[in-house]
Amino acid sequence: MSAASMDVIVSLCKRRGFVFQSSEIYGGTGSCWDYGPLGVELRNNIKRIWWRDFVQQRNDMVGLDASILMHPTVWKASGHVDNFTDPMVDCRECKRRFRADQAGTMDWTHYCPATKGNKFTIKGGERCPHCGARRTLCPECGKGELTAPRQFNLMFKTFMGPVEEDAAVTYLRPETAQGIFVNFDNVLQATRRKLPFGIAQIGKAFRNEITPGNFIFRSREFEQMEIEYFVNPHDRVDGRPADEAWHDRWIADCQSWFTRYGLDHANVKLHEHLGDELAHYSKRTVDLLYRFPMGWNELMGIANRTDFDLKQHAKFSGKSLTWFDEERKEHVVPFVIEPSAGVDRALLAFLLDAYREEEVRGDKRVVLRFHPELAPIKIAVLPLLKKRPEIVAAGHDLRHRLTRRWLTLYDDTAAIGRLYRRQDEVGTPYCVTVDVKTVGDPEKGEAGDGKVTIRERDTMQQIRVPIAELEHVFGRLLDAGTPWSEVAAGYPRAEG
Ligand code: GAP
Repeated sequence: MSAASMDVIVSLCKRRGFVFQSSEIYGGTGSCWDYGPLGVELRNNIKRIWWRDFVQQRNDMVGLDASILMHPTVWKASGHVDNFTDPMVDCRECKRRFRADQAGTMDWTHYCPATKGNKFTIKGGERCPHCGARRTLCPECGKGELTAPRQFNLMFKTFMGPVEEDAAVTYLRPETAQGIFVNFDNVLQATRRKLPFGIAQIGKAFRNEITPGNFIFRSREFEQMEIEYFVNPHDRVDGRPADEAWHDRWIADCQSWFTRYGLDHANVKLHEHLGDELAHYSKRTVDLLYRFPMGWNELMGIANRTDFDLKQHAKFSGKSLTWFDEERKEHVVPFVIEPSAGVDRALLAFLLDAYREEEVRGDKRVVLRFHPELAPIKIAVLPLLKKRPEIVAAGHDLRHRLTRRWLTLYDDTAAIGRLYRRQDEVGTPYCVTVDVKTVGDPEKGEAGDGKVTIRERDTMQQIRVPIAELEHVFGRLLDAGTPWSEVAAGYPRAEG
């Protein structure tokens, strides 16, 4: 499991500008989060590499960006109006609302008659150790009766246009997937694709979760990275029905994507949906679970949605949503494999897995060992002495040059040791230090050597590199993925 507790990550995120509570100065908005200067870079990096790896680098994928507000019938056809609900109960006294299935498992407040006047908090599902009672009243206030369960739809309702009437009701999308299904024929006509092919989309989704929580793990506004991969159910792949074979391929691809960018294999596992867990549209669903501090939980899902969605939208819209199989001379409704990941959950898992506390020469150092592709800042340029104008000018010049290719930051607001620690704590893989030897000392008639020190985050090793070679060195490290040990072997070591 990650060394970090959720509290440690929440605190780091606020302190260093990854994630802030939404509308914090007004007391915060329930389960909405704002991404700060470093958070937005990390988030963009996750989305960029996901898009590059799963869309741009594959010949069988295209992208889409559908609108958040859609025709209300979309949600009738998809089943969200009728089925996207959770049973909930209300306390008649304090008016708090709970998910019916969670009221019994939460810790509960009890005013015990056996020990008069005493108020206890008792573990979820357990009896009072004094009077033996089980919870029957509100778990939160311990006084009110709970109503019978009622279905609560998780979609956010809103109105299209100036009149707030039933005919104008629409919803903020609870998933990006439906935008893909309703555009299936548009994309097919525009791109002349053959099956199998996929359409990907990254975008915001909204769910009025009754019990959001665990920081950005479950929020009411979040972002999804979804793929709908269309296959011909009559084809066979590797001797199996095409949908089943492609489902397994996508499960393997998604799992290896997360481990390639840093998640420890030991913290990732698959979970097969069985029985009641399987959604009404699914032939088979497998979740990728991550070992979060609160236990194993869903990072993403990979479902075989069969032809359910295309058939539903064809039925409700009256439009044919099929693909013509030239070989068999028949129209087919494709089956759909859906890898669906949350950007926010991915970001949380990458943060947790990257977090380390280490002891260096008797001091504690916190380091985020991000994969370089994920790191919000790739290079930090740090001057050893900010009182020397030549050093500062050289530092600014270097930042300007390097940031054209890799996000580079200049910082001279503390002594070098502290500057290194700050960069370690936000996961910057490389620091470049400009010192007196770089620029020389005109008063002493000493010329500079035109070299700088590069320090690597994880090993803390330092090498001395000519400024003229920096682009080449960082090209190898950051673009070509050459290991540090291989690059460092070509340069003299510098003292730390
Ligand atoms: N189109 C299928 C679909 O939406 P889902 O399992 O409901 O399936 C897919 O959601 C992914 O979206 C989840 O695995 C999770 O990563 C993310 N997600 C869902 N609800 C979320 C929430 N309330 N907060 C943050 N992420 C969420």
